[in-house]
Amino acid sequence: MPDYRYLLPEREIPKFWYNVVPDLPAPMSPPLHPGTLQPAGPQDLEAIFPHALIEQEVTAAQNIPIPEPVLDVLRMWRPTPLHRALRLEKALGTPARIFFKNEGVSPAGSHKPNTAIAQAYYNKAAGVKRLTTETGAGQWGSALSLACNVFGMECMVYMVKCSFYQKPHRRTMMECWGAKCVPSPSDLTQAGRKVLAEDPETPGSLGIAISEAVEDAATHQDTNYSLGSVLNHVLLHQTVIGQEAIAQMKLAGATPDIVIGCCGGGSNFAGLAFPFVPMKAAGKNIRLIGVEPAACPTMTKGIYAYDFGDKSGMTPLLKMDTLGHDFIPPGIHAGGLRYHGMSPLVSLLHREGIVEAVSYPQLKCFEAALTFARAEGLIVAPETSHAICCVLDEAQKAKEEGREKTILFNLSGHGHFDMAAYEKYFAGELSDYEYPETKIREALAHLPKAS
Ligand SMILES: Cc1ncc(COP(=O)(O)O)c(C=O)c1O
Repeated sequence: MPDYRYLLPEREIPKFWYNVVPDLPAPMSPPLHPGTLQPAGPQDLEAIFPHALIEQEVTAAQNIPIPEPVLDVLRMWRPTPLHRALRLEKALGTPARIFFKNEGVSPAGSHKPNTAIAQAYYNKAAGVKRLTTETGAGQWGSALSLACNVFGMECMVYMVKCSFYQKPHRRTMMECWGAKCVPSPSDLTQAGRKVLAEDPETPGSLGIAISEAVEDAATHQDTNYSLGSVLNHVLLHQTVIGQEAIAQMKLAGATPDIVIGCCGGGSNFAGLAFPFVPMKAAGKNIRLIGVEPAACPTMTKGIYAYDFGDKSGMTPLLKMDTLGHDFIPPGIHAGGLRYHGMSPLVSLLHREGIVEAVSYPQLKCFEAALTFARAEGLIVAPETSHAICCVLDEAQKAKEEGREKTILFNLSGHGHFDMAAYEKYFAGELSDYEYPETKIREALAHLPKAS
């Protein structure tokens, strides 16, 4: 009988972050300054990021050592377990072998603390006293609140308005760790007040919340901004997931044919998938699939172009898959996947054919999450349900083809704060959102003229 779980001892936490940049098949396009549209230098980021993180953003070194104080905190929950979903395999009657990495065991309940801890550490070391950020589902805001508490810093979280009201207990969780959390758009910033004046009923978006958090950081001397996804250094910090998974798959005597993760800004997917890129480059036939919501189909329906990371155009422009910084996705329950752009690294690998992308509507994802919960017992976050939906499709294909494929996915977060979403699903109150083609075309028409 195969094992259900494959565990690594604490001493085997990865000691380096894996940087995919040297393994890219094409060079990255540089970020552009939002005012001049010329390549942005490290000095352009110094108003809101500490030097060490800016260095990580631009480095071409393959392995970046993880500082001991960061490892010391990660040890509170890492290495996370690798599970074999034996009961799900049986329920599906599939010959596929399904493995998942469980990032839901972190104190905040998702993969997000992997970078929150590192970011808070570098900011603290640079003398910063307060961090601001945005959060969609609340997972990232919780993670940064936890990290700021660990390093004795203040934390201010702008939470996307529709999620703020969908998940009131996420705010309470942040407050337990001493952070402050307000619904975004708020009247605390110019960016927020402008959106509220245009549309007081707006559900908010990650793009708007980022504008607010960046403005707050740029206008307070003791404050920096911290981003929970998208940027190179954030993806870098998440690679502990994939490195552990490789070691644990070895214990299981397996190599994945398919690696799957849901994509908001791309860090969860990249954290698991990027450490497999060198194997793929060396000729192993491994498919890397990023999964996104049909309501916010950044890779599957967006275009690859320079765009702002936020709604107001305050951040540097990044070359990425985007739906346009003006795009406000419908208020689906997978709040962490409601972002108009995609990490430049994931976008580049997608454009080069190394990463595949698929999208699913939310009802099918909730159905998949329930199939998983009823087989494996674990209730996942709505974001994670997108990955599971793809896993079920691939397991079904394996069944039809009679092939023993090995599938690995990232269980990016538990759904314990998402009961209102499940409740709505059971009550038949959730709907799928049509691909808002006109809205996307409208937003794409406002792309900055830098491509
Ligand atoms: C549980 C969960 N999974 C996945 C994601 C998407 O993460 P990323 O932006 O790293 O793609 C989020 C984002 O908030 C999340 O909360």
